[in-house]
Amino acid sequence: MEYYDENMKIGVFDSGIGGTTVLEAVRRRLPEVEYMYIADSENCPYGEKPDEELYEIVRRNVEKLRDFGAEIIVVACNTATVKCIDRLRRDYPELKFVGTEPAVKLALASGARKVLVLATPNTIESERLHTLARQNATDEQEVDYKACPGLAEVIEKNLKNNPGEISKKLAELLSFNDRYEAVVLGCTHYPLVSDMIQRYYPNAKLIDGAEGVAKRVQSML
Ligand code: DGL
Repeated sequence: MEYYDENMKIGVFDSGIGGTTVLEAVRRRLPEVEYMYIADSENCPYGEKPDEELYEIVRRNVEKLRDFGAEIIVVACNTATVKCIDRLRRDYPELKFVGTEPAVKLALASGARKVLVLATPNTIESERLHTLARQNATDEQEVDYKACPGLAEVIEKNLKNNPGEISKKLAELLSFNDRYEAVVLGCTHYPLVSDMIQRYYPNAKLIDGAEGVAKRVQSML
């Protein structure tokens, strides 16, 4: 096993349970480290909040984790990453941040010619996402975008007890398409229902950013 500092404390947050998909990936690589996780479900959904309000919420989470001793903060939320991480790095230079970005780069690198990105409205409208796609797509590759308002919140509230509500929401938002070769799960809540999403895109590989985040964290220790 590689050597790393086991006393390091890593703080992780998201607007609820979505970020656990990232936490698990990081923990698999670095099982001995101490983790703190904020599931900020009170403020879910982040994906539909105005920028300033979202930054205020995110800032509070970061300060809580810092005050509990975290030195590395994993923003286990695509929305908070694309909207807030640059400002966080400026405002908290003493902390190290690792963000979760929609895995567009990975999807394009897989060679998929037709890619769909599913994410919250805030992520889909962010310049950062579109720049990422422009910089990595070849002329033969096409990237489509689909904002999924309400989906993260429905997953947050119903995953355990009422999956029927999630199916209903997905039916409202998605339509069957067998031409996509890769679908980016650009919100950390979506991998929790990947089986349900896969039914709409039978020929697509579903891709998320959790493993990339875990590698990045590991490289920091
Ligand atoms: N899980 C988050 C993301 O990755 C946010 C979902 C939400 O609260 O809207 O975007």
